[in-house]
Amino acid sequence: MSGKEIIRLGSLKHVENFQAHLQTLNLEIPYDSQIVIGAQSPLRAPLVRGPFKIGNRIAVHPMEGWDATRDGAPSENTFRRWKNFGRSGGKLVWGGEAAAVSHEGRANPNQLLISPRTEKKLAELRTGLRDEHILTTGSDDGLLVGLQLTHSGRYCRPNEHARPEPRILYHHPLLDRRLNLPSDYPLLTDSEIESIIEDFHRAALMASQLGFDFVDIKHCHGYLGHEFLSAHTRQGRYGGTFEGRTRFLREVVQGIRSLAPGLHIGVRLSAIDTVPFHRDPRQSGNGKSHIGVAESFDDLLPYRWGFGVNPQDPTGTDLSEPEKFLSLLEQLGILLVNITAGSPYYNPHIQRPALYPPSDGYLPPEDPLVGVARQLATTRELKRRFPNLLVVGSAYTYLQDFLPNVAQAAVREGWVDFVGLGRMVLSYPEFLWDASEGNNIQRKRVCRTFSDCTTAPRNGLPSGCYPLDDYYKDSDWGDKLKILKRG
Ligand SMILES: Cc1cc2nc3c(=O)[nH]c(=O)nc-3n(C[C@H](O)[C@H](O)[C@H](O)COP(=O)(O)O)c2cc1C
Ligand code: SF4
Repeated sequence: MSGKEIIRLGSLKHVENFQAHLQTLNLEIPYDSQIVIGAQSPLRAPLVRGPFKIGNRIAVHPMEGWDATRDGAPSENTFRRWKNFGRSGGKLVWGGEAAAVSHEGRANPNQLLISPRTEKKLAELRTGLRDEHILTTGSDDGLLVGLQLTHSGRYCRPNEHARPEPRILYHHPLLDRRLNLPSDYPLLTDSEIESIIEDFHRAALMASQLGFDFVDIKHCHGYLGHEFLSAHTRQGRYGGTFEGRTRFLREVVQGIRSLAPGLHIGVRLSAIDTVPFHRDPRQSGNGKSHIGVAESFDDLLPYRWGFGVNPQDPTGTDLSEPEKFLSLLEQLGILLVNITAGSPYYNPHIQRPALYPPSDGYLPPEDPLVGVARQLATTRELKRRFPNLLVVGSAYTYLQDFLPNVAQAAVREGWVDFVGLGRMVLSYPEFLWDASEGNNIQRKRVCRTFSDCTTAPRNGLPSGCYPLDDYYKDSDWGDKLKILKRG
């Protein structure tokens, strides 16, 4: 399948056409034909459970912008993005964006860092978001704001954008090759892991003192927390068995509970995954419009380098371990869970379905709606198995004009508790709020998944939404991006 064959959702215009399109693709995605407005909207229903009273069902996903200062403090661009998170009207702000627990653990030299030097500005990020949220919704009742804590593991680039400094837990036969890692490249030692765990403790205590309601112990997208879950081949305390692979989480949680007992904890989890994908050079001759194909894994079966994948066919999923993991979260008293998938580094079409790839990506090997349906179905199944957890779903942005119809139905039918918004918040933060308020929908601001928000920051340009954002109108960044995309 090429990008050209995929029907653009923007061209469907009416929900009946969307319905017909789903049937053609044989996909199960819930949708409501009529959007309910005001307090009766399923998206506006508060959710009260345990210690939580969250004011509505709109969640904002973490979205980093590679735009912090070199010492890890938010810049004006970061403040602007967090204000937009507040403007969205979402009452659950899941982590704002990835904040590294140590300089060595940063994914790029402009990632936020939680440290004594940056704490004052991080606190201002939260209050700026809250003030903007009050302007949209009238109050901060039921607003829950977290901070996503991360160590980038295999994807650390703390010092130079172009200089990877991977910290790995085990040798991965496919990903090591991509990163040009020799077979004797050093693994993180158990004592280095213990010191990273202490970084998480310190960071969580600080987040609590800065007024964040919860921290997310990030376990997704190929970063360190996620890599632990697939560390089947690692020897020692932090790998091998399920118990070993989740020891990192348990030790992080234990320390946070004793240092900051009032702080809630959440986990964002890549519940499913697949093998790494790359551009298929056989399918196009122009050097840039290649379709994605899975790396060959024939000689790697049973596959022991994934989490949530079927070991006999790692392009398929297996929820038995993710279910065990959610069970563990319940035992640890963690109710807040955000379900996502895959990794932006090695299978972006799984993680954030898009029509257009970022400049270093590949054309979608499937209709992006298939990717949306995959994440919705996974989340639905996990929610069904763990009804007491407060579950946020991901990958809704590709639904574009039909996002309100699907979001409302997904919450109403209990597929998910909160509809999480990623890219849509960059282009049109108030989209779901406007829809459930009965305000005019501004179609021009609907994200069309052009991926510029990924391409630009990866190439040192400021982050944001290039085609739709006023912020770029008076700059030449858009032109620079066009040049980059032409390659
Ligand atoms: C520019 C950009 C930055 C992102 N930053 C983060 C991040 O800091 N932490 C995280 O867990 N996910 C991050 N994501 C992934 C999103 O949270 C989300 O899972 C993904 O975009 C799919 O949701 P969507 O379809 O609503 O965009 C990022 C995605 C994009 C495009
Ligand atoms: S740059 Fe804007 S339109 Fe493109 S994917 Fe990002 S948010 Fe959507």
